[in-house]
Amino acid sequence: MIEKIQALKDEIQAQLSSIDSLDKLEEFRLKHLVKKGTIQALFDELKSLPKEIKPIAGKELNQLREFAQNFYHELFGKLKQSKITESQIDLTLPGRKNFIGRFHPVKQILDEMVEIFISMGFSVAEGPDIEDMYHNFDALNFPPEHPARDMQDTFFIASEDGLLLRTHTSPVQIRVMEHQKPPIRTIMPGRVYRNEAISARSLAEFHQIEGLYIDKDVSFAELKGTMMVFAKRMYGFDSKFRFRPSFFPFTEPSAEMDISCFLCKGQGCRVCKYSGWLEIAGCGMVHPNVLKAGGIDPDKYTGYAFGFGIERVAMLRTGIDDIRLFYDNDIRVLKQF
Ligand code: PHE
Repeated sequence: MIEKIQALKDEIQAQLSSIDSLDKLEEFRLKHLVKKGTIQALFDELKSLPKEIKPIAGKELNQLREFAQNFYHELFGKLKQSKITESQIDLTLPGRKNFIGRFHPVKQILDEMVEIFISMGFSVAEGPDIEDMYHNFDALNFPPEHPARDMQDTFFIASEDGLLLRTHTSPVQIRVMEHQKPPIRTIMPGRVYRNEAISARSLAEFHQIEGLYIDKDVSFAELKGTMMVFAKRMYGFDSKFRFRPSFFPFTEPSAEMDISCFLCKGQGCRVCKYSGWLEIAGCGMVHPNVLKAGGIDPDKYTGYAFGFGIERVAMLRTGIDDIRLFYDNDIRVLKQF
């Protein structure tokens, strides 16, 4: 009996390597694994064996059956997978388009802005989103009672005394001055936070790109020139700009730069609040107190600073007239850019 089992085992093992299709595998199953198959036939013979041999032969036979079944199931899975033949492929189905990812439009605009400033000789620096009162306000010459410090404008971090989400990228000016001696020509892009009502024009979280230029005898004319060259390269040489006097605690004199509204071409509309102009940047000559806070002698050096709102620039370039559309993450909007 043991020899018979051994013979069947040899036979089965010899067959294994030649089974390379589902048909051959089915043949294998019908021959060995069904009720009328070879293995069951030996099980039937077991019954008439003497008691001493029965358990030994039974064990051998069980092992053989288990081996054959495992082999069958494994190979069945493999062959099934590779069985998609040409006749099953529908050549008339429309092809699957590869969806190529891309950068978010705001990131694309930011990269373009950075590229232009780098070509003008600026380097790039970054600072933390979570700032302290000193860098966000005090060192930037904000008087203690300045309304921007108010809870209404600033997100304070409740559990950490004196920490807040930066309300602008200007604190990075101070951080750059703390680590660098003039001449300084640096831009500082980043995200900023303000506790503002969300509307088509403003969000509570947006991006700015700060610029700082410090050297001997830097003039307001250079500030204007740099901003104009940048803006014309960004918007085209026929776009119109204007500078308006303004106020920031950290610059003196200060100005705001406007661009002629892209939507109404200066006629007046919802986006420009019917003025025909859109504010795109704040700027000015760095206040002597700010230079001092950064460890730079205001008698020896002067400088200018500017801050562009990136979403505003992105709206102008993409024609998107509601700032919220950038962050709704609607793929139908984003994939247009
Ligand atoms: N920090 C100012 C703002 O957020 C912009 C600005 C930057 C103004 C640099 C002057 C100089 O509105």
